[in-house]
Amino acid sequence: MSRRCWDFLIDRANPSRGRRVDHFGGPPAIDEGDILVALKLMALSANSATYVTLGEQLGYWGFFPADDGWGRFPAWGIGEVIATRHCGFAAGDRIFGMLPPSTHVVMRPAAVQPTHFLDGAVHRRTLHPAYNHYTRLNDDASPGTLPDEWLALLRPLFLASFLLHEHLAENGWFGAEQFLLTSASSKTALGLAQLHKAHGGGPELLGVTSTRNLDFVRGTGMFAQVLDYRDLATAELKTVSVVDFAGDSELKRKLELASANGLRRWTSVGATHDATLPAGTDLDAFVDRLFFAPDHLRSRMASEGADEFERRLSSTLSRFHEEAHHWLNLREWRGPDQFEDLYARVIRGDLPPHEGQIFYP
Ligand SMILES: NC(=O)c1ccc[n+]([C@@H]2O[C@H](COP(=O)([O-])OP(=O)(O)OC[C@H]3O[C@@H](n4cnc5c(N)ncnc54)[C@H](OP(=O)(O)O)[C@@H]3O)[C@@H](O)[C@H]2O)c1
Repeated sequence: MSRRCWDFLIDRANPSRGRRVDHFGGPPAIDEGDILVALKLMALSANSATYVTLGEQLGYWGFFPADDGWGRFPAWGIGEVIATRHCGFAAGDRIFGMLPPSTHVVMRPAAVQPTHFLDGAVHRRTLHPAYNHYTRLNDDASPGTLPDEWLALLRPLFLASFLLHEHLAENGWFGAEQFLLTSASSKTALGLAQLHKAHGGGPELLGVTSTRNLDFVRGTGMFAQVLDYRDLATAELKTVSVVDFAGDSELKRKLELASANGLRRWTSVGATHDATLPAGTDLDAFVDRLFFAPDHLRSRMASEGADEFERRLSSTLSRFHEEAHHWLNLREWRGPDQFEDLYARVIRGDLPPHEGQIFYP
């Protein structure tokens, strides 16, 4: 890892604009009770762009404060404790959770357990508990057996796929004959599609994607039919429900017209197509309707217990990881200059779906 210390800051009013701030004095000092964590790697995907897009509405800028008007978005990654003034941690301990695009971050562990802890920093107390939770990657306590890169990339997205699948199955797929996923090339959509296929039954699963990603989505073999966004105006759908990862209101209008009996159910999960924030987007209304995985996670854990939920999630995640090797390769990005390029491409949606982006500082 580079010895340089830097933060990458985003202009909150214009997220396509970022700048690196170098810290020539070295990493920040820590107080009693703190740990200093060095970023080892982080995974970026359209989900990271959505954290930026919805940063104000869902509080994503609150994780890692920056100067006025600027922000550091959270991304899922792995860090290593390199200095500690907390008796529950030693140098070399590894953690998994939300980390900033920075070489270093100071954390204030709370509720410390052998397997996990919370960042109890004052500025994070109003954030969703799922986001303040960090897993300790001890040899005997790692979730599943995924290698670090795959863990950071797939687990947060597949968690949403898993919770969505249970929600939809428990609700009888809302009585639809066909279930359609927008942005079908996204990893979260493919996780849901894989679970649907593995469980069998249920409605026919359709995917809709952009022209450039059609062959890829068809090649995964997970959908009964794959449509191009451009063909929706002439598509003839049966009784259909939609899980929407795209967040595109024009798309919704087209699907309403294409469905013979109207849409049975519309579940908003993401906003891959809104990463550039078109003027007039009603993001507050979007957030109100959102299927928000952390809320569903909290109720699952309350009803069945964290250990049982983790066991079920880990075994299905391992299967998804094995299958993902057929359609997904990791692509490495290293150092701050490459980070700028990677970030710009994530925000523009300029990355192929068969790649998982892993950044090493
Ligand atoms: N609500 C929740 O709790 C929750 C949890 C996890 C994920 N999500 C959301 O699910 C969505 C998918 O995330 P992911 O990380 O799985 O995505 P991903 O694997 O990075 O998916 C990339 C795909 O998204 C579409 N896309 C991305 N950027 C685009 C752009 N600028 N313009 C047009 N299309 C773009 C393209 O698909 P197509 O060509 O197929 O459209 C692209 O192939 C995100 O919005 C994420 O925030 C929500």
